[in-house]
Amino acid sequence: MAVCLFSSFFFFSSLVLVFGNPFGRWTYISPDELEVKGAAEVAVREFNRVNGLEEMYRNLRIMEATKQIVSGVKYNLTVVLERTQCKKGQDVMPDTCLHVYTPSLGMKCYFSILTVPWLNQTKVLHQMCSQERLITEISDTELSSRENAYSPKLKNEMLETMTLFKDFVTTYNKTYSDQKEATRRLQIFSENLQKAQKLQEMDQGTAEYGVTKYSDLTEDEFRSLYLNPLLSSQPPRPMKKAVVPQISPPAEWDWRDHGAVTEVKNQGMCGSCWAFSVIGNIEGQWFLKKGSLISLSEQELVDCDKVDKACGGGLPSNAYEAIEKLGGVETERDYSYQGHKEPCSFSANKVSAYINSSMEISKDENEIASWLAQNGPISIALNAFAMQFYRKGISHPFRILCNPWMIDHAVLLVGFGERNGIPFWAIKNSWGTEWGEQGYYYLYRGSGACGMNTMCSSAVVN
Ligand SMILES: *[C@@H]1O[C@H](CO)[C@@H](O)[C@H](O)[C@H]1NC(C)=O
Ligand SMILES: *[C@@H]1O[C@H](CO)[C@@H](O)[C@H](O)[C@H]1NC(C)=O
Ligand SMILES: *[C@@H]1O[C@H](CO)[C@@H](O)[C@H](O)[C@H]1NC(C)=O
Ligand SMILES: *[C@@H]1O[C@H](CO)[C@@H](O)[C@H](O)[C@H]1NC(C)=O
Repeated sequence: MAVCLFSSFFFFSSLVLVFGNPFGRWTYISPDELEVKGAAEVAVREFNRVNGLEEMYRNLRIMEATKQIVSGVKYNLTVVLERTQCKKGQDVMPDTCLHVYTPSLGMKCYFSILTVPWLNQTKVLHQMCSQERLITEISDTELSSRENAYSPKLKNEMLETMTLFKDFVTTYNKTYSDQKEATRRLQIFSENLQKAQKLQEMDQGTAEYGVTKYSDLTEDEFRSLYLNPLLSSQPPRPMKKAVVPQISPPAEWDWRDHGAVTEVKNQGMCGSCWAFSVIGNIEGQWFLKKGSLISLSEQELVDCDKVDKACGGGLPSNAYEAIEKLGGVETERDYSYQGHKEPCSFSANKVSAYINSSMEISKDENEIASWLAQNGPISIALNAFAMQFYRKGISHPFRILCNPWMIDHAVLLVGFGERNGIPFWAIKNSWGTEWGEQGYYYLYRGSGACGMNTMCSSAVVN
């Protein structure tokens, strides 16, 4: 027995030596290794095969590689892909294609790949890609040849960009601390124009993307200032399921036409969208049950909901519970919005509305429409991918770009209908009236666009 134990230990440790890598543990590996490049090649080919995009992408850079020995070798790779000018279906190798002029949009992908060398098998277990702005390193000769070819056009574009930036600064009353900061913002603005143009090219709906009040922010700044990371990182508190009305929804419905929606509000530089979404829903429920539309306090939730994270994000399901525990909500006027967390100053004798419970609504868009038309505006969450540069029209990003599981913003669903035959949801946002269509976002209806159907809920007022 002792011998047996000893020999199996020996067997195991010699395998470790052979692989240089203990079983089951992830280790870093150089992106330059042939095995990593091979795995990445398979993954990119698979990415090109399954995405709905027209152009082919190719591996630009492997940023990180880890591997794990299992029943084969598993690789987790972070890879930056660049878009090429080759369309799919052309029988060419992506490596021979010209890439799209920089700076352009690329993809950042996380791939999980399993190879079984002795079976000659490699398969992609998991892939997750999101669009990303690339500042591609291009060689000097390439750059100078491009400059020669595009110089007059480039100059014109720069002039145009400067004019647009000037308009932007006056329209949105922007001030920058110094010239250096202004130059930096102009650079970001210019990159964002290109990003908006790419969004425009890739939209399947009727949306117009371009300059918005967020055009001088990098994607990271925008995310951290205005979005809500908790939505996709924390599971919602379980709630009872809403009863779906057993009738099909009308062709169109809009609660703004029935007095159930207050003015568009502005969350400011604070990730408190969850509070606006929930308060919007409660305003509607209170109106429908009690007959008066009262603008209610988001700040009360920002200050007094101890489960959620104030400007750092929150979940609607927690917010309902917080209001139930507090005993109600004060009005917007009594407990007005500050845009940052302050000590809770809720007072029970100023309560103007209450809720008795909350519930989860269906994930089926038809049932969501039926419920909405019968019962009022709904608190929802979605992926805000297409919203930073949205101006108007019906937004319909590719599913792969607007991943339904990456919800990061909470808003209020107030209606639905069709424009020129294109079905839409009407969504009240909390970024002020100067954003979108007087503060509203119109999103394609019927394909679970941007995960809008994944976290629908409502308060219950008895
Ligand atoms: C590898 O990727 C898979 C799938 O994305 C993920 O679940 C896993 O946690 C990753 N492992 C490491 C060590 O990054
Ligand atoms: C593995 O694949 C390579 C290239 O496709 C091929 O040349 C080789 O014969 C294959 N080996 C086995 C054992 O299938
Ligand atoms: C522009 O911003 C300044 C400083 O923030 C403010 O005092 C002024 O009222 C604003 N003007 C307009 C038209 O919004
Ligand atoms: C609903 O909640 C309010 C305030 O907490 C309470 O006064 C009322 O009795 C509740 N209604 C029901 C039916 O539970």
